[in-house]
Amino acid sequence: MCGIIGYIGFKQSLPILMEGLRRLEYRGYDSTGVALIENGKIVVSKKAGKVSELQSELKNYSSPSTIGIGHTRWATHGAPTDANAHPHKDQNGTIALIHNGIIENYQTIKKKLLAEGHTFQSETDTEILSHFIGSLYEKTNDLFTATRLALTEVEGAYAILIISSKEKDKIIAARKGSPLVIGVGENEMFIASDATALISHTKKVVYLEDGEIVQISNNSFITKTITDEEIEKQVHELDLSFEQIEKSGYDHFMLKEIYEQPDSLTNSLRGRVLLEEGDAKLGGLEQVSDLLKNTNRIIITSCGTSWHSSLVGEYIIEQLAGIPVEVEYASEFRYRDPVINKNDVILAVSQSGETADTIAAIREAKRKGATALGIVNAVGSSIARETAAGVYIHAGPEIGVASTKAFTSQVAVFGLIGLLLGRQRGLQIDKGRIIASELLSLPDKIKKALQSADEVKQIVNEFKDSSHFLFLGRGTNFPTALEGALKLKEISYIHAEGYPAAEMKHGPIALIDNKMPVVFIAPKDMLYEKVMSNIQEVRARGGRIIAIANEDDHEIDEFAEFVIRVPRTLSYFGPIINIIPLQLLAYYMALARNCNVDQPRNLAKSVTVE
Ligand code: G6P
Repeated sequence: MCGIIGYIGFKQSLPILMEGLRRLEYRGYDSTGVALIENGKIVVSKKAGKVSELQSELKNYSSPSTIGIGHTRWATHGAPTDANAHPHKDQNGTIALIHNGIIENYQTIKKKLLAEGHTFQSETDTEILSHFIGSLYEKTNDLFTATRLALTEVEGAYAILIISSKEKDKIIAARKGSPLVIGVGENEMFIASDATALISHTKKVVYLEDGEIVQISNNSFITKTITDEEIEKQVHELDLSFEQIEKSGYDHFMLKEIYEQPDSLTNSLRGRVLLEEGDAKLGGLEQVSDLLKNTNRIIITSCGTSWHSSLVGEYIIEQLAGIPVEVEYASEFRYRDPVINKNDVILAVSQSGETADTIAAIREAKRKGATALGIVNAVGSSIARETAAGVYIHAGPEIGVASTKAFTSQVAVFGLIGLLLGRQRGLQIDKGRIIASELLSLPDKIKKALQSADEVKQIVNEFKDSSHFLFLGRGTNFPTALEGALKLKEISYIHAEGYPAAEMKHGPIALIDNKMPVVFIAPKDMLYEKVMSNIQEVRARGGRIIAIANEDDHEIDEFAEFVIRVPRTLSYFGPIINIIPLQLLAYYMALARNCNVDQPRNLAKSVTVE
């Protein structure tokens, strides 16, 4: 959602904050702001728009300040305007506060403050919190205590940073539901929403947990719970290089991440495929192996692209292991009072590990006595820490807002889990070997699928002015159709729908005319003939057919106007290969329509609010 950065040390803080904000901008980019302490006073600069806009406004400004906080916003309360941009000051202008999250009871707090004579400059819940802390600060004269006391009355989610002109040597930070990580340097400290903003400065990090509040000075930090208990924090060493989060010569992070997939998939599989035994080895699940052997049901919960890979996971686990699987949007699961049994396994899938709805779904499942496991990309993230065990997908940092390599790696990890659980439940070794060897062949097959870029560009040329697209597939390629449609709408703003190909005749067929491009995902698998019939139905109504087909399939040429060829694989893993040209289609379509690929409008990489 929003991105947060703070610095305290001996260097000029403004350039450090601006660099951090540039790295965090994928989290939100509708306004930007910084607050510094300069000559004993709080100085705030903020502006609606991207980080670059504030940067050009401040280009001739050099501040001696060595302490400051910065924020890039994704609006929840109040439009993206200069006034609503963070930081927000309190009534006296003594403190400045930045916030990622939502204060749910801000109306109640606002009423009290209005009665005390407070006036507000913005429409945000954040300004209310800042005034609330400010009013307690007047009474306590201690920023840490005032913040802690205020937070005992706050409902909602937050990661906040606060500075005060009366206590120039500290930053106060607190978290509940939104991530914060401290970067420990030599006589300097950093704090940010995630490690991408810290990596160029330090690899020593401390993760804050929900309900913790910390006072940071240039060479130490003190952590307590909101309820005033002291806590010892552990310093971790980050295993992430600066180059890993750079664009490596690609025009956009998304393109870099699309082309990284042969490597990211190799990393997801590394050391986990047992070819000879026809099995998989997942160290992260060993401690729950009895539970996995005995469970009668797996519930997979997630959001967005991760929900699409979860749907593929359902096919894979049910077919290989015969365990009943349900897949549910985390946002629905958390509120519908689901029936959960003690030996159900809840599998939370998340790239960022910070999605608020997915975290809430895990907590709901745990509250009902089930065990929650994670399939997560971001190491050390909230979901990784809140689950009993799990599997890291090891896809590396994903910066482009539209998720690409996380999807293919998540499906591959489902392949590993399906293989592991299948072999525990009677899957024959020969079949296990076929699956294991197919998994290992996927990185090379992705390389081949990436060669479709030129064909994809021709299709983009033909359809760049289309207003609608339909994506159709069956079996595991139904989720591929959903994901292809999601990619296109996310970054090119073309209205796109994904459907199970056979379901088309129950509605979407009414949309088909000679202006409607219809993408069929049609590999040569057991449903091929059925999909061919669906293609005929669209052709009969004048629809324009684009087919994703296998290299050796020439039968389809007669029926499709455009054919993109990709290597054949087992149907479990079809989405990993077939999504590649669809990712490229979305990317080149967005370029052709002059859209901002890495920062599509209204979206955020990590949705840490409901
Ligand atoms: C946001 C992102 C999507 C992502 C979804 C779930 O909507 O823009 O790309 O799929 O959140 O995120 P997660 O990190 O939990 O996979």
